[in-house]
Amino acid sequence: MADSTQILVVEDDAKHGAMCARLLERRGYRAKATTSAREALSLLAQNRDIDLVLADLQMPEMDGIQLLSAVKGKYPHIEFIVMTGYGTVKTAVEAMQLGAAHYIQKPLDHDELNLLIKRAIEKKQLEKKVDRLRAELQGRYSFENVIGKSAVMQTVQEKMAAACGNRATVLITGESGTGKELVARGIHYNTFGVGALQDADAPFVAVNCGALPKDLIESELFGYKKGAFTGAVSDSEGLFRAANGGTIFLDEIMEMLPDLQVKLMRVLQERSIRHLGDTREFPIEVRVIAATNKPLVESLESGAIRKDLYYRLSVITIHLPALRERAGDIPLLAEHFLKKHQKDFHKTMNGFEPRAMEAMMKYPWPGNVRELENLVEMMLAYGKSAVIRYSDLPERIVEIVPSQKKPSMMDDEVYTLKEAERMLIINALAKSRGNKSLAAQMLGISRKSLYKKLEDYAIPEN
Ligand SMILES: Nc1ncnc2c1ncn2[C@@H]1O[C@H](COP(=O)(O)OP(=O)(O)OP(=O)(O)O)[C@@H](O)[C@H]1O
Ligand SMILES: [Mg+2]
Repeated sequence: MADSTQILVVEDDAKHGAMCARLLERRGYRAKATTSAREALSLLAQNRDIDLVLADLQMPEMDGIQLLSAVKGKYPHIEFIVMTGYGTVKTAVEAMQLGAAHYIQKPLDHDELNLLIKRAIEKKQLEKKVDRLRAELQGRYSFENVIGKSAVMQTVQEKMAAACGNRATVLITGESGTGKELVARGIHYNTFGVGALQDADAPFVAVNCGALPKDLIESELFGYKKGAFTGAVSDSEGLFRAANGGTIFLDEIMEMLPDLQVKLMRVLQERSIRHLGDTREFPIEVRVIAATNKPLVESLESGAIRKDLYYRLSVITIHLPALRERAGDIPLLAEHFLKKHQKDFHKTMNGFEPRAMEAMMKYPWPGNVRELENLVEMMLAYGKSAVIRYSDLPERIVEIVPSQKKPSMMDDEVYTLKEAERMLIINALAKSRGNKSLAAQMLGISRKSLYKKLEDYAIPEN
């Protein structure tokens, strides 16, 4: 660590400066000495790798304090230690207030100097770490949060990246719980400086077109003037204007009435908005991201969405595959949610029993990623062991038919429930090599009820 640290010594007494630099080199730092503050500034401008400046307070022309404020103004990340021959506390305090890490009295105590440098470097590294953590925190909705290594999810991530470079409208499709809003936020929070679309402070306004009474959506979206209709007791700027400079996320777009779709078209074309009961136009710069959990083809055929609006919205389309279509992502997601929620439950669980994961990968997850996340939270709330066990999983997940038998049972043949149950039991016994406790566990029933069923169905006990 020390060997990569670069120190610039600024000392008008050339001899003392050179000695200081040599001393530092002997301690493993890279050091350079210069005799004037001006020269120091030009060296700093040329060499971006300097981490720390060690400067004399008393210098002709520009003194240490002036140099300090110049350096801190231009390169706030560079640490600064002042040397003083007189040890006047007043100047030292002034230096600290200006951002010096410390001061040291001449003649230099070598050990003290070494310690101060070490501390300054540590402080700098800590600050770097804090910066990085802050950036990570602000990246709450960054792409890394969209988990998935499957080919389909890689396509999703590529399309997200493409959407971030411009202000094109995006249409996101996918079943409930597949992550549509997560992707919309990911795009928003990673779009910077495109046209009037701004940085991370830009608003993200989510509107659920299905949640509000249809007659209210229009006034909510486009705003209104006082008195425009009964109940409009004051002006409202509406959600579109609230999203100005950022993103409006129109969730459940298929729920929007055709009349309103026409108005939305107009807004997209004109890039301006008119409040209800108003004649003025307000220019707006808003990225529109729409989402639906309805299959597109059906919605187009049934007329739930106007074709012209569909073409406007679907400049970039992102389809989020159902979780069962990318079962390979399930372990990754499950581990992610385990880590994510552990602290809420003040518990540490180290992953999943292989059999538990196997069952989870076979389960079809009708509620998709949301259902998986909820399950992991539930396991964290109730789980008592160090890992999530197969036997802890809810019935709906473990009662999934073992894969070998599944095709034949789902085929064209029809079984009675009893026949099916008998087959499942035989299958479980075969898989557990006759171990009844294990078979009972696989079937999600007690040992006792397994024995009873063996008797009822006259299944030979090996
Ligand atoms: N790929 C993913 N990686 C990590 N978390 C995900 C992923 N997909 C979804 N989630 C999480 O699952 C939950 C549901 O996601 P989201 O609300 O975005 O789904 P949705 O498609 O908008 O659902 P709905 O149609 O019901 O509104 C959220 O907590 C989200 O963080
Ligand atoms: Mg949603």
